[in-house]
Amino acid sequence: MTSLETARSQAYLDDRAHVFHSWSAQAALDPLVVVGAEGSRFWDDQGRSYLDFASQLVNVNIGHQHPKLVAAIKEQADKLCTVAPFHANDARSEAARLIAELAPGDLDMVFFTNGGAEATENAIRLARGHTGRFKVLTTYRSYHGGTNGAITMTGDPRRWGNEPGAPGMVKFWGPYTYRSAFHAADDAEECERALAHLADVLMVEGGHTVAAIVLETVVGTNGILVPPDGYLQGVRDLCDEHGIVMIADEVMAGFGRCGEWFAVDHWDVTPDLICFAKGVNSGYIPIGGVVISRRIADTYAQRPYPGGLTYSGHPLACASAVASIGIFKEEGIVEHARRLGTDVIGPTLAEMATRHPSIGEVRGLGVFWAIELVKDRATREPLVPFNAVGLAAKPMNDLAAACKERGLWPFTHFNRMHVVPPLTTTDEEMREGLAIIDEALAVADEHATA
Ligand SMILES: Cc1ncc(COP(=O)(O)O)c(C=O)c1O
Repeated sequence: MTSLETARSQAYLDDRAHVFHSWSAQAALDPLVVVGAEGSRFWDDQGRSYLDFASQLVNVNIGHQHPKLVAAIKEQADKLCTVAPFHANDARSEAARLIAELAPGDLDMVFFTNGGAEATENAIRLARGHTGRFKVLTTYRSYHGGTNGAITMTGDPRRWGNEPGAPGMVKFWGPYTYRSAFHAADDAEECERALAHLADVLMVEGGHTVAAIVLETVVGTNGILVPPDGYLQGVRDLCDEHGIVMIADEVMAGFGRCGEWFAVDHWDVTPDLICFAKGVNSGYIPIGGVVISRRIADTYAQRPYPGGLTYSGHPLACASAVASIGIFKEEGIVEHARRLGTDVIGPTLAEMATRHPSIGEVRGLGVFWAIELVKDRATREPLVPFNAVGLAAKPMNDLAAACKERGLWPFTHFNRMHVVPPLTTTDEEMREGLAIIDEALAVADEHATA
């Protein structure tokens, strides 16, 4: 045992000896041992506390250890811990009804999963059975989960190590005005050109062969890409024209993150299927699912649905979803999230952008914001290259370290820092966190042309 190891807790040592972590070269890992959390903060076994500006993995929408949510889980545990998916159960029934009541249009049935990847997998399965078609269109700059179909749908480098993946997936470009694939000058032009591009892709792929178009309503990890007004309606229209199922992946963007129950509500667009997970119960117990339109559910009225999971609609998870939705309503959490975006985060980031040469763009809504960092505002050269690792990623790693030293746990991805704390973060905590980021950005400014 080295002298360093003697100072480490058993949890750390057992982790390094036996826990195989996601997406990582195992030998390089040095995880924090988290021992407690409350509201927007968590702390480690060394007595260091952090403002959680990542909401863990952008899932702890309600904040850590909400007492009413913890109590609801304990109550359900005393009553009934588990039940097979083919039985009915009050926690599952109520969760499904509440989610259906919140969902737009005729989306009124719920298939429960254990998380987001299973939600996107089942969404395309539902669409394929409904249309009798196989092909699925998804965007570059997206993430849809780590299982075979979901990672093949994914349009980011996490797919590369899993190729060739599942057959029948085709990629197209979604809108991203700041780095437009269409050389658009503004949002209106980006919207028009991104829709024309999608129409072209459908023409050459054969729209009649496409089962589904899958989109993150607001792209999350790959940049908080807020679609320009009109884009989602345009996708809806193209889906209707070709008989394609429109799937909104709201695993990250849903349940208040964008200041609406579902992000699509922001544009009044009704997809055919919505995937959810994360914020529905803030990950206190794993759960996800697909909200299904009546038309698609009817396809499976007489024909069996070819999918299932032992823990589909798990009572502990469903009871926590019921409690979480109730708490959101009682405490006005969705409204609070919207106001944090319009009154605190948006204006503060816009002001910071005037002072920091490394800030190329700030964008977002609700409690879902990105600070896009550049070396040069004129050329928009990213602060670090796409998918940078090692030395090339150092400016972003230094920025993250500067935040951590100051007691803030950041979310960084490529050349961006995302501002994604719990939706229950107070105005004061939000200002405290943004002030830390403001200070830490001096590290990024050193690499930028003033
Ligand atoms: C948009 C989106 N879809 C799907 C997933 C996959 O969810 P899970 O990790 O729960 O499988 C994620 C996870 O980050 C996500 O952000």
